[in-house]
Amino acid sequence: MPELDVIQELRRWLRQRLAAGETVLHLPGGAPRRPDAAPLAASPAAFGAASPAARVAAGKAVAAAEGARAGPGGTVPDAEGMRAPEPDSLEGIAAEVAACTRCRLHATRRNAVPGVGPAHADLVFVGEGPGADEDEQGEPFVGRAGQLLTKIIESVQLRREDVFITNIVKCRPPGNRDPEPDEIAACEPYLKRQLRLLAPKVICALGRHAGAALTGRAAPMAALRTGEHRYEGIRVFPTYHPAALLRNPQWKRPVWEDIQSVRREYDRRRENP
Ligand code: URA
Ligand code: SF4
Repeated sequence: MPELDVIQELRRWLRQRLAAGETVLHLPGGAPRRPDAAPLAASPAAFGAASPAARVAAGKAVAAAEGARAGPGGTVPDAEGMRAPEPDSLEGIAAEVAACTRCRLHATRRNAVPGVGPAHADLVFVGEGPGADEDEQGEPFVGRAGQLLTKIIESVQLRREDVFITNIVKCRPPGNRDPEPDEIAACEPYLKRQLRLLAPKVICALGRHAGAALTGRAAPMAALRTGEHRYEGIRVFPTYHPAALLRNPQWKRPVWEDIQSVRREYDRRRENP
């Protein structure tokens, strides 16, 4: 695997510099950095600026380099084989998802789709699962439904870059079938960890499956969207999925009302944290 070779090559080079007595690493244009900090510090940076495909590749490389990782609070061997505790992180979750085989969906995915958005996001959208475009690009809501979601977000004066977007299952169900209950259960720990780290003010659940998973009620959307729900203590507003909205324009009105409620709760919670 080329990405792995790069990491191993870098570690070998750093050990040589260290053995040669160098203790400060000078990077062009950057601040001096401890040589032993570089290999692990280099990987999360790859998630920030690179293309989705490169980020997924980086995630796979990190997951592979870390070997069998224990999850939150687990340990990662450093360059010298010593073990240091590592706090949970969105990048760490993305890397685990990229290498995950907890349910059968791993076998047919091209790319896992952990989710995108800033770590400080106060609003999280949770969809059902990646479709063909998302599986192709490793990023959620990039197809037609995704374009509509962007418009829905912008309709309440928010920007897509400011919210976190993810799904109930992180790998595409083949042929866009509904995710199975055991697949949802296998994948939910990743969502829980993401939400614990993000600690958003509001969650918007898109569609019946996200609505059922986040409210614990398998009711029709018409019933779900009128109730008051919480997931891990955070207010959840279920609404119709943008893909369903494309087929049923009569749901524009309820979705408009729901996103207004989301915006109101978002403002309220930001004003009184
Ligand atoms: N539909 C979803 O539920 N999620 C996506 O990421 C894309 C389409
Ligand atoms: Fe793992 Fe979730 Fe993908 Fe299943 S859907 S393989 S649990 S990341």
